[in-house]
Amino acid sequence: MRQATPTYELLRAAFADADGDLPRYRVLYQAIRESILGHRLPPGTRLPSTRELARELGLSRNTVLSTFEGLLAEGFISARAGSGTFVAEAAAAPRPRGGRSVPVNHERRPAPTNALPLSQRGMRLASFQGGSRFEIQPLCGGDGDFTLFPIKQWQRLQSRQLRLARPELLDYASNGGYLPLRHAIADYVRVSRAVRVEVDQVIVTAGTQHSLDLCAQLLADAGDRVWVEDPCYWGARCIFDSCDLKLEAIPVDQEGMNPAAAPAASRPKLLYLTPSNQYPTGIPMSLARRRAVLELATRERAWILEDDYDSELRYNGRPLASLQGLDTEQRVVYLGTFSKVLFPGIKIGYMVVPAALVQPFRSALYDLQRPGQLTVQGALAEFMERGYFATHIRRVRQAYSETRALLIEALQPALGGSASISSQSAGLHLVIRLPDGFDDQRLAETAAAHGLRVSALSRYFIGTPSAWGLVVGFGYAAPEKVARSGRMLAQLLKKAL
Ligand SMILES: Cc1ncc(COP(=O)(O)O)c(C=O)c1O
Repeated sequence: MRQATPTYELLRAAFADADGDLPRYRVLYQAIRESILGHRLPPGTRLPSTRELARELGLSRNTVLSTFEGLLAEGFISARAGSGTFVAEAAAAPRPRGGRSVPVNHERRPAPTNALPLSQRGMRLASFQGGSRFEIQPLCGGDGDFTLFPIKQWQRLQSRQLRLARPELLDYASNGGYLPLRHAIADYVRVSRAVRVEVDQVIVTAGTQHSLDLCAQLLADAGDRVWVEDPCYWGARCIFDSCDLKLEAIPVDQEGMNPAAAPAASRPKLLYLTPSNQYPTGIPMSLARRRAVLELATRERAWILEDDYDSELRYNGRPLASLQGLDTEQRVVYLGTFSKVLFPGIKIGYMVVPAALVQPFRSALYDLQRPGQLTVQGALAEFMERGYFATHIRRVRQAYSETRALLIEALQPALGGSASISSQSAGLHLVIRLPDGFDDQRLAETAAAHGLRVSALSRYFIGTPSAWGLVVGFGYAAPEKVARSGRMLAQLLKKAL
């Protein structure tokens, strides 16, 4: 039988290295567990008695007893009546080839990427890197500025929901979400977006990404074709790809997606569109095109997914009416989100689904997600019912319209001639169009080297790029910082043109 003497040295060393904030029993537990997994305490090793160990390490006996109980329950050690406690035979991790012991901090060491046990789909998703490359972030970099959001009001509403602790709000969310929130959303989109909606058709989700995922799973099968705008929102591409759908990139021109430019043999099951403010080009879809895509969807029995992500933020005139409002055939799923107009981390979005899809979507949402967060939904319902939402929209619209104007003023020295603003006066980003074939990726990299975050328009294309420029975000940022960064960007542009 092996002796336990070295055990003390091992454990004393572990205590010397331990994080002072960790409870003692946790330090002892981790030290023994990692010594076992790292083969420094091999199977069969006899551990000191709890009394001895407590004395040697200056711990209370109860601390050692509860540590041993945990290790026993997890199968790391075993007790043999009358003869003591031993490292269990099956407890150690398999030795790596070559016989070296595994490192103590094995839990913190990332697995080597070429050994990732991922599926084909997983490999595609893990290598997509869309978030860092494509997402619109404020030009000035750094953390976002969320001071426009009335956080005190929100805190009060959320605390109230938690104080009330109504049992139905502590449960899973069924029936498509909290009813008062669904009422508030239906009232809002009916009036401000001309959406045709009954409250039953509203389904609350964890944001647009989540809504798209549900639509892709419920409305299309692997291999089905989804028509996407080219250039396209990377988040949507990523979802469709993860559901094994075939992406058909349909060119966008000055009127939005052009279905006439699609390959003749291509039959879509889904069409993903951003008609109010095409992402990323920032142009609205014309009425003629809206009619054309609705006709096509009806003819093909395809579904249109209308992503209306930032329509509240239009700075000249009223928000455009939704595409869904023109649909008489119930072929459109309307997708809205609170990410842009409130704050991204709220992760609450919604769908307005055709009547025939209400039950299937409700039950699939429940079965796939077991959704919850009803207290947040409750707070948001009150935020809307009390008129705070409408006030907030007015406030951000005013503030972002001013920030956008400041940015354009700062960019002015570089505009005219071969650089121009091509996006409409809306949303949280603008697009600077550059001459055809211009190396916009290099310019974006130069800007990044100067601490500016802009994206190259050409990178949003799935097919061959047909437009070049910079996508410049101005939301969630202090106006003076945006203006300062805008002036720097203007200088870089002038130099590059
Ligand atoms: C085109 C588009 N749709 C939707 C979203 C928002 O999605 P979510 O509600 O998942 O935050 C974004 C955010 O960047 C977007 O750019």
